[in-house]
Amino acid sequence: MIKKAVIPAAGYGTRFLPITKAIPKEMLPIIDRPTIEFIVEEAKMSGIDQILIIVSSNKNAIIDYFDHNLELETILLNKSKQELFNVVHDIGEGVHLFFVRQKEQLGLGHAILQAEAFTADEPFAVLLGDDMFVSEGKPALKQLIDLHQKTQASVLGTMEVSYENTQKYGICEPQQTHEDYMELRGVVEKPAPEYAPSLYAIAGRYVLTPTIYKYLKTQNKGKGGEIQLTDAILRLMSEEKVYAKNMEAKRYDVGSKIDYIEAIIDRALQDDTLKEDIQAMLKRKG
Ligand code: G1P
Repeated sequence: MIKKAVIPAAGYGTRFLPITKAIPKEMLPIIDRPTIEFIVEEAKMSGIDQILIIVSSNKNAIIDYFDHNLELETILLNKSKQELFNVVHDIGEGVHLFFVRQKEQLGLGHAILQAEAFTADEPFAVLLGDDMFVSEGKPALKQLIDLHQKTQASVLGTMEVSYENTQKYGICEPQQTHEDYMELRGVVEKPAPEYAPSLYAIAGRYVLTPTIYKYLKTQNKGKGGEIQLTDAILRLMSEEKVYAKNMEAKRYDVGSKIDYIEAIIDRALQDDTLKEDIQAMLKRKG
């Protein structure tokens, strides 16, 4: 079983400047909870019990958020605000969180390399914080974990994108299609549409075997001058099979403003205390 997950959260958040000058992008709220909490919850619901969050120097707000705040909790208890106390106290319960600092931002591949001591020789999951998945059924990550159970190999979570959008993602080259998953022959990071081998994009969820570290350690810089996880996965394919699966879940790219706003509206529409007011507000705005 996959019990460990890695969440890289060391990026600069340039798409949300200037707010990300002072607030980590992972802490931007979907109403009253930060995006990273939804990622942690997805991991938890997928059976993960230990999570390593890879942070950089200006990300202490993430560590504080998942820690207890004894002063606040005492005040809430003294004021008999038991319900609010529970809300605050229960954040991150049921999963062990660990943090490590990435000293230099050399790319996603380099960030994952920081997890080597944590995951050791076990297969592990990776969840990227910009991709938020909401699923009525099985959580997105659990769908990959189940395929890993069956194949014992690395599995990439994918979604179909439009031709113009291939240059925003790692794109898969399928070798063989099985009932609801694919065996891959290649992956390429952010190709121009005319060079994209398919429209299957890596959507921020992975299950990787520990063999990946061998390739990450020797990985040259790729697209954007960064050490790319996608490039190391391509080299991993020379040694092990790698599969991909289209995840059945609604995806929000919360690193993009329009998806971020949609995530907030959708969450409000699911909240009984907000639903009617939001519906009325949206109607008024036409
Ligand atoms: C990263 C990966 C890319 C993947 C994407 C999913 O890119 O490098 O392969 O498709 O996440 O969100 P980023 O968006 O961090 O540039």
